[in-house]
Amino acid sequence: MSVWAILVAAGRGERLGLDQPKAFAKLGEDPLLAEPLRRLEESDWVDAIVVVAPPAWEEPAILLAEELGAGKVVSVVAGGETRTDSVRAGLAEVRDEAVAVLVHDAARPLVTDDVIGRVLAPLSQGWDGVVPGLAVADTLKRVGDGGAVVETVPRDGLWAVQTPQAFPADVLRRAYEGDAEATDCAALVEGRGGRVTVVEGDARLLKITTPADLERVASWL
Ligand code: C5P
Repeated sequence: MSVWAILVAAGRGERLGLDQPKAFAKLGEDPLLAEPLRRLEESDWVDAIVVVAPPAWEEPAILLAEELGAGKVVSVVAGGETRTDSVRAGLAEVRDEAVAVLVHDAARPLVTDDVIGRVLAPLSQGWDGVVPGLAVADTLKRVGDGGAVVETVPRDGLWAVQTPQAFPADVLRRAYEGDAEATDCAALVEGRGGRVTVVEGDARLLKITTPADLERVASWL
């Protein structure tokens, strides 16, 4: 089975407060993008990689892939206004030979071979999508304007979902045919009636949003 990975790295990362996009923020010694790219390149599960770069940053992304010797990178394309647009741009580069597609946020640099294996395994049982997640441990409250608590939401059965997310290639292509928007790929598959399952994620797949997240992930390198 040919597994293609789409690494979405086109977010602006405004909350990091830097001049360059999040993918090129420094994580340790290297640009953030280097870490997930190196890990996908080294994964035995992954056959080919499409990098979705911030618009106008395709060239630095290509140079980075070359520096890393990331020979599985077959395409570097510019992303779009939203994450959904960026995934769609990456999916257009995935060739027909792909049987399964992994979509991964570059903002979660510490992707492991273990979690990739866990999300790919259930595809052979006929699932339309597999996402890694962590059962919610905190009490959840909906908060209204002015900071007043509106309600406490029962957390039973609630999971915080991460990436990489895995799909049969044809299922993911169909999910992206329309122009629906979602914060993850699985939501589009679910929206078309697809059956999606959750496997155990990894606390170190934290999505970098703030400077403190960047420091925390750097300390785990
Ligand atoms: O901002 P958000 O949480 O949606 O970002 C998740 C991932 O999606 C990040 O890796 C980011 O680079 C990517 N993204 C993208 N194109 C966008 C917005 C986000 O590739 N327009």
